[in-house]
Amino acid sequence: MIEPALEAPASAGGVRTVGPRGPLTGPLSPDAPDPLALLDLFGDGFVRDPYPWLDTLRAQAPVHHDPRTGLWLISRHRDIRRVLLDPAAFRPDNAQQAVTRLPMAVLRVLARAGFQLPPALANNGAPSHSGLRRVVTRFFNAQRIAAAVPVIERIAGELIAATRAHIDAHGESDLFAAFAQVLPCRVLMELLGIEDVDPATLIRWSDASLELFWGRPTPDRQLELAELVGEFHQWLSATVRAGAAAPESFVGALARHRLPDGTPLDPRTAVSACFFVFIAGQSTTGQLIATVLRRALADPVPWPDLAQRAGLAEAWVEEVLRREPPVTTWRRVTARRVELGGAELPAGAELLLMLQGSGSDPEVFAEPERMCPYRPDIRHHLAFGAGRHRCPGASLARTEAAVALRAAARGLPEVRPAEGDGQQPMLGLLSFRAPLRVTVVGK
Ligand code: HEM
Repeated sequence: MIEPALEAPASAGGVRTVGPRGPLTGPLSPDAPDPLALLDLFGDGFVRDPYPWLDTLRAQAPVHHDPRTGLWLISRHRDIRRVLLDPAAFRPDNAQQAVTRLPMAVLRVLARAGFQLPPALANNGAPSHSGLRRVVTRFFNAQRIAAAVPVIERIAGELIAATRAHIDAHGESDLFAAFAQVLPCRVLMELLGIEDVDPATLIRWSDASLELFWGRPTPDRQLELAELVGEFHQWLSATVRAGAAAPESFVGALARHRLPDGTPLDPRTAVSACFFVFIAGQSTTGQLIATVLRRALADPVPWPDLAQRAGLAEAWVEEVLRREPPVTTWRRVTARRVELGGAELPAGAELLLMLQGSGSDPEVFAEPERMCPYRPDIRHHLAFGAGRHRCPGASLARTEAAVALRAAARGLPEVRPAEGDGQQPMLGLLSFRAPLRVTVVGK
């Protein structure tokens, strides 16, 4: 699934911007200040406040070549939707490629661990995709999620009780580390029947995978991350190959799965599917919960109402998904020469769909900068993608985030953000963005 990028990203000599009126190519004159020439998708400025950049992209350069990453940034809601709904012209093959080149030493660490991830789910444009996807959706369909609510509430209740005790003893707590990050991991483990690893390890492996493949780590950091990713992969391979998984577990379902030609799934592809689901199924939701809590604590939405007013927590989660989703971008690659947003793109053009910006597209959402939990078109955002690869974990993520918000508002009614919370560290990867700390203080 995640393929190491062996080549450095294609880098252009200057900034190429293509708007509806046609391409503007070549290096821009230093006398013609172009704000987009300064855009750094990993820079602190963009990570902390991406909205002015996303607005500029959408308004001035809806199809924009980013020379730092070699990606074409697609920012209008209608263009992104069109890409997602046309998998023949816009293939998913590059969805999980490493964005930062992996040096030979790092590739060696991964190779030693037997790291190999053939296309399985998000980056699989082949006919095997739909059957594999059905294995996932069976575990996360609406009925299963409705039945899982008591499990989610129980785990959320336990974590909030521990957080309550910590605040009472020490005056403060970090709701990300103590709650947001742990809840989805423990829920996923119960739903998928994972027993022989502790949540802290699974979280460490998952976060390392995100940083190695979607981040801009230094070579030394890449080596550290590769060790963790290798451990994760080895544990998954051992679990899949042991053949001892309970039949009702996710690994057991993959073992029973048959490909379109009737052959069983090879273990490498089963590992690849698990690798993605075990990461996607917890890290993203932890990030969503962190943002949901931080926005609810900072914005003028009455905290006690979230616990009591039916549907408010769900609506708040939906607005956060629209305006500040955890999965900020997703990738596609053009299968052939194609027109998009008034521009001609060559075959093999790597696209970065700016999902976060599309949730603030004024063509679709009125007053996009305002958090309005009851806006009529609330579900028109693309935070979970669309079409054939649309996120099969959307119901689980939405449910967990709403349960988490209600549990926090109910169990920690008096808390407020610690001073300086706005300046706390942020996760800023190519496709994932969220607060890394949500510190609150008691009375
Ligand atoms: C807030 C949490 C989440 C967000 C924002 C999110 C977002 C996304 C996005 C944007 C995609 C790509 C969709 C596309 O290409 O059209 C995706 C795919 C996927 N997500 Fe999620 N996701 C979340 C939670 C989850 C959870 C809880 C699971 C657990 C099962 C999950 C499993 C997957 C899988 C398996 C795919 C690939 C589907 C396919 O290719 O058919 N995600 N997700």
